[in-house]
Amino acid sequence: MKQHILFVCLGNICRSPAAEAMLRLLVERNNLQHRVEIDSAGTYGGHAGDRSDPRMRSAAAARGIEMTHRARQVREEDFSRFDRIIAMDDNNYEALFRLAPDRAAQQKIFRFREYLRHNPDWSYIPDPYYEGHEGFELVLDLLEDGCQTIVEELMAE
Ligand code: 4NP
Repeated sequence: MKQHILFVCLGNICRSPAAEAMLRLLVERNNLQHRVEIDSAGTYGGHAGDRSDPRMRSAAAARGIEMTHRARQVREEDFSRFDRIIAMDDNNYEALFRLAPDRAAQQKIFRFREYLRHNPDWSYIPDPYYEGHEGFELVLDLLEDGCQTIVEELMAE
């Protein structure tokens, strides 16, 4: 059975589409495409329809990661479409918790930090929107760590 994973941040133009593209690349490298479906969304809908932030796209491209996602806002039906909904920070987590229609839906919400293995100092993925280039590099480093953990879980299942 396929597992459906949704990454969620605020705008869906920086962190969560990068997580989606990063996990997709690692999944393809490990031939796990048949095991997982990946998407991303934002708690804020102001960027809906936009391509990802060009700063995030170029930082990702430098690591061989192509980002083609168009932003969309998370919606209640995502709780039935997805098995795991992974929030980038506590604000995203709380917004998802408020949107979840019932307890079963709430139990599908996770924090990305739960998947970090090599970055114990980070309890969230920092919003790079108002940061310089290093902010985007840091996001990609953290996403790679967590996405690698998700891939290892998929391989162990
Ligand atoms: P993201 O970054 O949540 O990682 O996509 C942001 C993008 C846009 C805004 C905030 C954060 N914004 O306020 O428009």
